[in-house]
Amino acid sequence: MTKFKKVFDFFKSLKIRLILLFLLIGIIPGILLRVGMLNSYGNRAVSIRTSEILSQAKILANQIVSNDYLKHSSSTHINAQLEQLSTIYDGRMMIIDDEFHIIKDTYRLDEGKTIISEEVIKSYNGEEITKYDSENRYIELTIPLVQPQLDSEEKKIIGVMLMSVSTDSINLNYEYLSVNAMVIELLCAFAVIFISVIAAVQIVKPFRKMSASIDMIQTGYGEDALAVNDYTETKVICEKFNSVLSRMKVLDDSRQEFVSNVSHELKTPLTSMKVLADSINSMEDAPVELYKEFMQDIGNEVDRETKIINDLLSLVKMDKAAMDLNVTNININELLEQILKRLKPIADKQKVELVLESFRPVSADVDEVKITLAITNLIENAIKYNKEEGWVHVTLNADHQYFYLKVEDSGIGIPEEALEHIYERFYRVDKSHSREIGGTGLGLAITRNAILMHRGAIKVFSTEGEGTIFNVRIPLKYIS
Ligand SMILES: Nc1ncnc2c1ncn2[C@@H]1O[C@H](COP(=O)(O)OP(=O)(O)OP(=O)(O)O)[C@@H](O)[C@H]1O
Ligand SMILES: [Mg+2]
Repeated sequence: MTKFKKVFDFFKSLKIRLILLFLLIGIIPGILLRVGMLNSYGNRAVSIRTSEILSQAKILANQIVSNDYLKHSSSTHINAQLEQLSTIYDGRMMIIDDEFHIIKDTYRLDEGKTIISEEVIKSYNGEEITKYDSENRYIELTIPLVQPQLDSEEKKIIGVMLMSVSTDSINLNYEYLSVNAMVIELLCAFAVIFISVIAAVQIVKPFRKMSASIDMIQTGYGEDALAVNDYTETKVICEKFNSVLSRMKVLDDSRQEFVSNVSHELKTPLTSMKVLADSINSMEDAPVELYKEFMQDIGNEVDRETKIINDLLSLVKMDKAAMDLNVTNININELLEQILKRLKPIADKQKVELVLESFRPVSADVDEVKITLAITNLIENAIKYNKEEGWVHVTLNADHQYFYLKVEDSGIGIPEEALEHIYERFYRVDKSHSREIGGTGLGLAITRNAILMHRGAIKVFSTEGEGTIFNVRIPLKYIS
């Protein structure tokens, strides 16, 4: 099995495939050409030889008839011609009379014998027969000996001339050419193999270069970006790779920033507690009231630390488990009333008027805990970042698909350049002011995550010094 896989993998290599392709293109046409040319040479040579002999033989046949050779076979003139023709073409000639007796055989083997073959009989009937026997390598011709009649148009066949000629010389030529062609072809094949390997290696080179550069980038010794511009294809791949790489870098940067923010935020309350504890310890005979005040402050710092940790935990949970929303059908009007009731004391303390307006009864499939977190933070922000005697209006509406929540305040507003950052973890517009108000900058990140998990949307509109509007849209039916 693994052996098969190895072979399979071997042929999956681009280099090997290119080499095979070049070999196919370079060698197959050579073989076809050689076989085709040799065959057509052979056929052509035989047909030329046949027609040459045929015309010579016909001339001789005419002389044989006009000299009445069949009756006077001792004619030296004709005999000499027969011998000559046989010698020139390396063949054997026989003259057969109308009783199928061989009256002349240039091999002198069968004179006087009778010959009855298919070809001879056909020639008696007037046909000229030519036959090539490629296995035994000879051409055979039979020609009728025709005597014209003086008194009529008719012709009389008085005998047959049979001639068989060896084609050894043609075959010798054929073999010679064949060996030559084979040698040339082998030389070409070697050249093709050599060129294919070099070409395939060259073609594949940019890909090797790419993989080497990626290795370098991975180990940290390479350039920051991949640039192999040898082909359009490699260029495109490099561009895509670079964009993925830069996205990963951004992610990595934001992760590092997040970690350093977390450590900083977690350290701040601890530092405060340490300072408070140290200062009270260093005091001699500190009054009980001071102790109480300091312990109160330390308690506040512990609360702050706990809130940060809780917020971080809910964010991490949402990041990790986008799938496991605990969805139930919730009455949103009631949910809002509860949230507002819980936030009322804070609003009262800030002297901010809190108003809820519901246009219709709304119930939706949501995760109660996560949606409560999200809405609470929006309204809490609207109260926290408000002015004295300010107001917060919460409006609920719905259509057949979504419910819409609007949280509008008369607060300090958010500067335009800060708008795109407010959903980032630990981002606060005015750090000093926010510190005094007491936020960690995780609230909106949690809000946005919770809304997106419900396949909802959140939008913000704000004018500095005038107020802010957060619009939220969430589907009534949860789509998993
Ligand atoms: N309604 C608002 N009006 C003015 N500024 C706002 C409002 N809501 C948010 N912001 C600004 O956006 C920042 C981010 O808000 P977010 O809720 O994420 O953090 P936070 O309120 O500072 O802290 P947390 O909610 O984690 O306790 C805030 O610090 C504040 O500067
Ligand atoms: Mg907040």
